[in-house]
Parts: sequence; C-alpha cells; structure tokens
Amino acid sequence: MRDQAYKLRSLAHRVIRPRVQVDPAVTRVIAVTSGKGGVGKTNLSVNLGITLARMGKRVFLFDADLGLANVEVLLGLTPAYTLYDVLYRGKRLEDIVVSGPFDLQIIPGGAGMQELANLDSSQRARLIDMLSYLRTAEFLLIDTGAGISRSVLGFVAAAQEVFLVVTPEPTSLTDAYSLIKILARHKVHDEISLIVNRATGEHEATEAAAKLQLVCRKFLKFTVRHIGSIVEDQVVVRAVKNQEPFVVTEPNSPAAREVQNIARYLLSGTLSPPGAVDSFISRLFRLFR
Ligand SMILES: Nc1ncnc2c1ncn2[C@@H]1O[C@H](COP(=O)(O)OP(=O)(O)OP(=O)(O)O)[C@@H](O)[C@H]1O
Ligand SMILES: [Mg+2]
Repeated sequence: MRDQAYKLRSLAHRVIRPRVQVDPAVTRVIAVTSGKGGVGKTNLSVNLGITLARMGKRVFLFDADLGLANVEVLLGLTPAYTLYDVLYRGKRLEDIVVSGPFDLQIIPGGAGMQELANLDSSQRARLIDMLSYLRTAEFLLIDTGAGISRSVLGFVAAAQEVFLVVTPEPTSLTDAYSLIKILARHKVHDEISLIVNRATGEHEATEAAAKLQLVCRKFLKFTVRHIGSIVEDQVVVRAVKNQEPFVVTEPNSPAAREVQNIARYLLSGTLSPPGAVDSFISRLFRLFR
C-alpha cells in the first residue's frame, strides 16, 4: 500500500506539473473507471459512445483494459490489429481503428497496453505523433480496467474528466471510495462524475450516490457529482449475450434512455471544460515513463 501511495505521488506530481505547454483543442477526454470490477464500465462506454456518435459527434473509444478485449466482444467485432501492431509491427493508428455502430471509432488496446511502459524514446515519439490522429475526435472515451493499478490510474490521471461507475453494493462503494481517496489526495481532478449502475430504481441509486458523496465531502473535501443512474435491466444482459449494444437494439428500454440522458447531460456542457487531446497524450506518456 505504501508502495502504491509512493507511485501515485510521483504520478500526480508529473500530472500537475506538465513540462511542455500543449495547444488548446476541443477533444473531451473521459476515462470510464471503477473501484471494483464488473460494475458496468464497458457497457456504459460502448453504449454512451454509440449514443454520442448517433447524435453526430465524432467519438473514439479506446479499449484500454489490459485484460480481455471487452469492447470488441460486446460489439461482436474481431479486430485484425491492436495497439501492439502500432508499437511493433509498423501499423499506423488509423490502420487499427475499427468502425462500430454509427461510426463509433474503436481503438483496440489489446496486448499493446502492456507495452506502453516499455517504449524507448523514439518509439514513444512515433506513437505520440500518430496519436495526433485523435485530434479529429470530439470525444475520446477510455474504457479502463478496474481498481488501483498503475495502468488504470495512469489513464484516469491523464484524462480531463473521470466517470466513476459504481453499483449500490457496499463493496463497490468502498472500492470506489478508495479510488477517490487516491485521486483526491493528489489533486489531479477538481471533481469526478458518478454513475450508479444496476440500481433497483432511482431511490436506491440516489441513496448510494448520497452515501458516497457524504463520505467524500466529509473526509476528503472532494466533490463527487452524481450525473446518472442506470437501473438493473435485462436488456443489458441480453445485449451482452447477443453481442449487440442495447442502445441500438432496444433504444426505448430504461437502460438505453438513461444512457441517452447521460449523453445529453454531457453535451449540455456543464462538466469540466474541454481539454486538449495533446495534453492527454503528453500526460499519459509522462505517467507511463
Ligand atoms: N444495468 C445493468 N443491468 C443488468 N445487468 C448489467 C447492467 N450493467 C451491467 N450488467 C451486467 O454486468 C456485466 C458486467 O458488465 P461490464 O462488462 O460492462 O462491466 P465492467 O465494469 O466493464 O467489467 P470489468 O471490470 O471486468 O471490465 C455485464 O455482462 C452484464 O451482465
Ligand atoms: Mg470492462
């Protein structure tokens, strides 16, 4: 634990004091994360990405989970290449990007994710150069793994906005609190956005959010903004089984409507101001160095 705190301190230090100034740009970079695994990050990322794309936005979804290729599985896609091919096999970023529903642009991290920490400076420079392709995006959503690992925290710290997914279960809330504690201590973000998933209804979701907000305010003096709730809905389970996103197959289901509400909220511009994708990229590489 002390070791983790040390790593975080150095991560946060690098995030807070970027060495180079970056150009202003319009891409909003949002990390979707959680304390506990299996709470619905990938379902939210995929369906939110599709909803924003359907609203005419240019959206990239980066599957940054070190483990399984979650995003691709949910969409029934089998990408030919991953970030690994960019790093070691001479592919360009645009060669590995896969188009999903409504032209959602998916970047498969795959085995390449493990390699980010091992790049030499020329490989790094090449990758940064290629990532400039992402400047064309209005949204870059990053589906991270769960928990407090270096790779997850790197993505979360580098992104300008954080969507934290929880379920009303006590274990999910306590794991979320542990993650927020680390983020709050190192002052990487002014606030984070909370989405309560798998609640039995609005009442349970609001209660769960209020509990987390209260402890964060009281003990961490940190703002957690409850921006949405998604109920327990069998359409999600069905969508996973059929590998077809529920916002496409069942757009009028409660889950799909709630994802649409989150997308509208996001577009209403009440969240943190947009940051540069360049800033995200340079912060990310400083963190993975
Ligand atoms: N709103 C919901 N209603 C019903 N079931 C849900 C809901 N959200 C998620 N699930 C179930 O939870 C499972 C896990 O969801 P998902 O893969 O999105 O979680 P995750 O946080 O990305 O997991 P991991 O940490 O492993 O990446 C889904 O396969 C689905 O069965
Ligand atoms: Mg996932």
